[in-house]
Amino acid sequence: MNIVDIIERKKYGNVLDAKEIDYFVQGYSKGEIPDYQISALLMAIWFRGMNKSETAELTLSMVRSGKTVDLSKINGIKVDKHSSGGVADTVSLPLVALVAANGVPVAKMSGRGLGHTGGTIDKLESIPGFQTEIPTEKFIEIVNRVGGAIVSQSGELVIADKKMYALRDVTGTVDSIPLIASSIMSKKIAAGADAIVLDVKVGDGAFMKDLDSALELAKTMVEIGDSVGRNTVAYITDMNQPLGDAIGNSIEVEEAVNVLKGKGGKRLVEVIKTLGGEMLCLGGKAKDSAEGKMLIEKSIENGAGLKKFAEIVKAQGGDPSFIDDFSKLPQAKFKIPVSSKVSGYIKEMETENIGKFAAFLGAGRMKKGDKIDLAVGIMFPKKVGDKVEEGETIATILANDKSKGEEAAEKLLSLIKFSENPVKELPLIYYKVSEKGVEKLFNE
Ligand code: URA
Ligand code: CA
Repeated sequence: MNIVDIIERKKYGNVLDAKEIDYFVQGYSKGEIPDYQISALLMAIWFRGMNKSETAELTLSMVRSGKTVDLSKINGIKVDKHSSGGVADTVSLPLVALVAANGVPVAKMSGRGLGHTGGTIDKLESIPGFQTEIPTEKFIEIVNRVGGAIVSQSGELVIADKKMYALRDVTGTVDSIPLIASSIMSKKIAAGADAIVLDVKVGDGAFMKDLDSALELAKTMVEIGDSVGRNTVAYITDMNQPLGDAIGNSIEVEEAVNVLKGKGGKRLVEVIKTLGGEMLCLGGKAKDSAEGKMLIEKSIENGAGLKKFAEIVKAQGGDPSFIDDFSKLPQAKFKIPVSSKVSGYIKEMETENIGKFAAFLGAGRMKKGDKIDLAVGIMFPKKVGDKVEEGETIATILANDKSKGEEAAEKLLSLIKFSENPVKELPLIYYKVSEKGVEKLFNE
């Protein structure tokens, strides 16, 4: 077997067998096959695709490229969650606390932001003292004692994904269904949870731009999860506008805490309740997802989620006093208001570009390894359908570099389209995909 033949075969649209897939995955992980050949192969996969069994083989081969986590010492059904990546997607922080508060253990391994999307680990680093690099034994101890923990995925897990994701990011091969499905599912399988809830984003600010591809991605991942005995449910949710009001790192932590204080935005809270309800159902603490949703809602109302969040912060070395005093989080020097030049209704937002602007300000990485500025970002509390008046402040740019901030404030308006006539709200949750099939959850 040799890599050139494998590239040629995929280039002509052939189906690769398990041995060929394992050959390139292990060869690349061990450094025996160079970046340029895997780049060519990834591009061939991007154009030619992979069928279900190739994608499943790729996923399992990726799992074998690194260590796996054994969570059997954690009591109960461990449920994990993963988002395919979005803008102002501050779901994980409140979600882990709310699910843990209901007695389902959450041992969550998260990643850093990439491209225009944010990452939970970066956000958490704005909390003074909070540790995200925690040895597995301590991680398990915290989950058993407190009910939940969020740590950075160990570099020893899924070596193939670490290397391939970085390569995909710079070779235009991120937005491929088999490549995203195997990337996400290999990490979830290696991280050891019993059940998995996936939030597959769709729309301008997501990797999947249309509903058909999002559905195909969701079905592919659910099938892979179920084929290895991990009960997997996916929700397809809207990313045609930022989900929450904050795009950045410390401001997203603030927003997460506000959700737990009962002051979260409607759309963000609805996604948290939906995914949380499903996690409680899979974790055996609710008879169905509707009951789970009610329990999550209750844990926001009675403060149980907030209390659990403070416990998690403390267990991971953080100082929870920021919860009552956000000035303890990194603060930007300049707050630049953006005012509307027109009166009307918000019709459309270039969400991916809004995410890129936050990255440009320093909230995200332009390239791998860049240092990010935890304090900066965009506060943008408007949603499609909202009415705005000329001169009204519709967003605030938080910057540490004044000229960059002013540039972003100027350009942000060009990413928003207005209409003189009333505009309908966007749908939020489109489909649920599980072993039972596809359930439609919105009206067209
Ligand atoms: N998130 C991942 O973890 N992998 C992808 O390929 C895309 C989004
Ligand atoms: Ca776009």
